[in-house]
Amino acid sequence: MPSVYIKTYGCQMNERDSEAVAAQLVAKGYTLAASEHVADVVLLNTCSVRDNAEQTALNKMSSVIGLGRKERPGQIFGFMGCMAQSRGKELVDRLPDLDLVLGTQKFHRAAEYLDELLAGRRKHIVDTAAETGSEGTIREHLLNGSAKGKSVTAFVSIMQGCNQYCTFCIVPYTRGEERSRSIEDIVTECRKLVAQGVREITLLGQIVTSYGRRRPLTPFLSPSDGERVSKPGEGFVQNLVAPPLPSPFLPPRKEKEESPFVQLLEAVHAIDGLERIRFTSPHPKGYGDDLVEAYARLPKLVASAHLPVQSGSDRVLKLMHRGYTRARFLQIIHKLRAARPGMGITSDIVVGFPGETEADFEETLSLCREVEFDNAYLFKYSQRKDTPAAAMPDQIPEELIEGRHARLLETVNAIGKRKYDAFIGQLVRILVEGPSKKNSARFTGRTPCNKIVLFDGSERHRGQLLDVKITRTGSFTLYGDPAIVGL
Ligand code: SAH
Ligand code: F3S
Repeated sequence: MPSVYIKTYGCQMNERDSEAVAAQLVAKGYTLAASEHVADVVLLNTCSVRDNAEQTALNKMSSVIGLGRKERPGQIFGFMGCMAQSRGKELVDRLPDLDLVLGTQKFHRAAEYLDELLAGRRKHIVDTAAETGSEGTIREHLLNGSAKGKSVTAFVSIMQGCNQYCTFCIVPYTRGEERSRSIEDIVTECRKLVAQGVREITLLGQIVTSYGRRRPLTPFLSPSDGERVSKPGEGFVQNLVAPPLPSPFLPPRKEKEESPFVQLLEAVHAIDGLERIRFTSPHPKGYGDDLVEAYARLPKLVASAHLPVQSGSDRVLKLMHRGYTRARFLQIIHKLRAARPGMGITSDIVVGFPGETEADFEETLSLCREVEFDNAYLFKYSQRKDTPAAAMPDQIPEELIEGRHARLLETVNAIGKRKYDAFIGQLVRILVEGPSKKNSARFTGRTPCNKIVLFDGSERHRGQLLDVKITRTGSFTLYGDPAIVGL
């Protein structure tokens, strides 16, 4: 059977999509190759968020094709994911040896298309069309039998797309409209994972606070097995709670409406055997009190929040079309910390948005000092085709962006170091995930507040909740001493 090598660029959704494609191909008999040099099929799962990410994937594909054509005639090359979606056929025009361009709503067709290409029935396949129900297709997992051993943690995709249209962001165009899976589908998938040994689940979406708020679920027939995944509206959040009957005698009951996302959290929380729940990414605009309260109420929901802020300046937030103010963001952080003391909080920030003045940037610096993020991912603004921000006046010169980025990085790192150092001497409860990727002699796990802990463990620790004493810190890493690992 053919072998496939998949390389992933970008975010956790991309990782999840790649894993689902790999699982789909393994189920059809493919093997997973260790590198592009020994694979029959090479797939690059791409990211479009910044130009840099696109260029890296384009350069990689050119070199893979160059080598493959010399050394492995018949090797198949494909792009999938966000850049495949946004550039489509243009990619084949640019790289004529490219065989496959698979858009973000077409991952489930990978096996079918590769069959055609490997059999020589077709030369180039470009499929970037929208497909109703595609949000329900990312559900296969590769948990066991891989070199990694049994997985303790898993990602579950709960929705696709984003309707927020932040003016700098290409995601609404590459991932399409918001489409949510039903609670029932998601819980079924989570239950299966837990039955296979998974103890921590991260719920994924571009904007999970909008989960279930858009169109009702569309029927979907799985192309591979014809299995009916869900009927229209079946198990969908809005239908879970029967509307209260009007009574002539009693005043109407004032029920506190919980957002569909919190209803989903509750449903996942009820799964026996599941220890920890995480999710990414929420949006401050849809961050209701019910979600804050969920942190106080649901013990499996870990004390960690990734909440992208993007800028500390109200003027810039408005230009970005973010839909909240600095004060509102700070209020959410304050409420979260009150609900769960010791909560780990991380964020995303864009540096050098068009028109960002020194004063605006100072506001971002001061917001970081005020919030004291455990870590923040800093992105140098990158002009994306057809986004409103690309046409805005006062695009910031690269050197200025570089300078601001360096200053912000220094601030964020200094705060992060202080926060990490504060763990020295503390006992933390980690969920052990397995050997560290960088050094397999070490084992790795995470604290509830999402900090990576390395310690000298062994296979018997995998999947365990362990109390570990922190002895020292590295760059955004904690080290636990094996001598004082509690059992
Ligand atoms: N809501 C999504 C965001 C996806 S993009 C999520 O976090 O799940 C991830 C991050 O990339 C954004 O939060 C933003 O900080 C950054 N980003 C998006 N578009 C960008 C651009 N044009 N230039 C620089 N950074 C960008
Ligand atoms: Fe992008 Fe804003 Fe959505 S950053 S993914 S458009 S919330």
